[in-house]
Amino acid sequence: MGFLADALSRIKPSATIVITQKARDLRAAGRDVISLSVGEPDFDTPENVKEAAIAAIRRGETKYPPVSGIPQLREAIAKKFARENGLTYKPSQTIVSTGGKQVIYNALLATLNPGDEVIVPRPYWVSYPEMVALCGGTPVFVDTTIENAFKLQAADLEAAITPKTKWIILNSPSNPSGAAYARAEMKAITDVLMRHPHVWVLTDDMYEHLVYGDFDFVTPAQVEPGLYERTLTMNGVSKAYAMTGWRIGYAAGPEHLIKAMDFVQGQQTSGASTISQWAAVEALDGPQDHLATFRAAFAKRRDLVVSMLNQTSLLECPVPEGAFYVYPSCAKAIGRKTPSGRVIETDEDFVSELLEAEGVAAVHGSAFGLGPNLRISYATSDEKLEDACSRIQRFCNSLD
Ligand SMILES: Cc1ncc(COP(=O)(O)O)c(C=O)c1O
Repeated sequence: MGFLADALSRIKPSATIVITQKARDLRAAGRDVISLSVGEPDFDTPENVKEAAIAAIRRGETKYPPVSGIPQLREAIAKKFARENGLTYKPSQTIVSTGGKQVIYNALLATLNPGDEVIVPRPYWVSYPEMVALCGGTPVFVDTTIENAFKLQAADLEAAITPKTKWIILNSPSNPSGAAYARAEMKAITDVLMRHPHVWVLTDDMYEHLVYGDFDFVTPAQVEPGLYERTLTMNGVSKAYAMTGWRIGYAAGPEHLIKAMDFVQGQQTSGASTISQWAAVEALDGPQDHLATFRAAFAKRRDLVVSMLNQTSLLECPVPEGAFYVYPSCAKAIGRKTPSGRVIETDEDFVSELLEAEGVAAVHGSAFGLGPNLRISYATSDEKLEDACSRIQRFCNSLD
């Protein structure tokens, strides 16, 4: 009998972390490496947020928090949902966890029984299927296509629902594709869900504020109020407030679900860092001016990257609505040879040869369940992006 739990054999390591480490190792060995694999903004946490944390420390707000979050933050979360999403929640319908990741994990842990199915559109954020599997559930994948801009189609969703379906996980804007659902697209999805009252909606709105041009963000319970009683709306400060290291995520939903998540969290972390929670109060309640700066910078970078990648005949890169990722297809590179004679058979070969030849780290699409594609993060400086895209062009041109 082995020492480690069988549950570990059901999950795989995060491909994004593996690639980021490989890039770090090459850099440590003296190579000039540009990493386009990271999932965090290159901006710093806004000053007012940092100051709020420092002030909290000085006031002695350094004790255990209430399990579901400090009242001031739960109040700020309820206000945020009312102000930005037109959703009415009492603070008792909200919960704060150690990152958005833990919110999702707790929701699944609190609700899944063996045999329960969770619908996960592909490409997906790497952690969804692994978290479902760790919690004893079965992920059921539904493919999207580049032609449909990586958005779930109503008929495909309908076909995937079974009596065992417990949740669908929606993520708009998406990591890895950047795709975000416009109101009519979201309504097509919520119309299907209205016909299946046993299916709950877990919506991961982590990239809500990172949408570009005149795109209007919407969330399922806002588009279809009939889903309010079975939707968990998850969000966080990691991406929009450049607070990945502070580890604060939150959600709002029906009180009985929130209580079950509190129950799990009470035997797990006892709640998120008190100091970080005070910082998050300032993030949500304080000035939001930095958002326009972040959005303008990301929009410009998205356009630069899409345009430069589409200049190579081997990549096809749609223009995503949000997040800070693009997800080009590298199908036309499959079967081609590198100058050293190696044949590119998969998208994983493509990213590994690209890293070797040009020192550019991207993540292969198959890690997100749909390939052959690459996920390229543009959360890095314009200069680095331009350099990296030129190297990608050179790499594509070198393939025979
Ligand atoms: C789609 C998505 N959801 C959730 C998270 C996790 O957020 P947090 O860092 O707050 O745990 C990420 C982070 O990469 C993400 O991309």
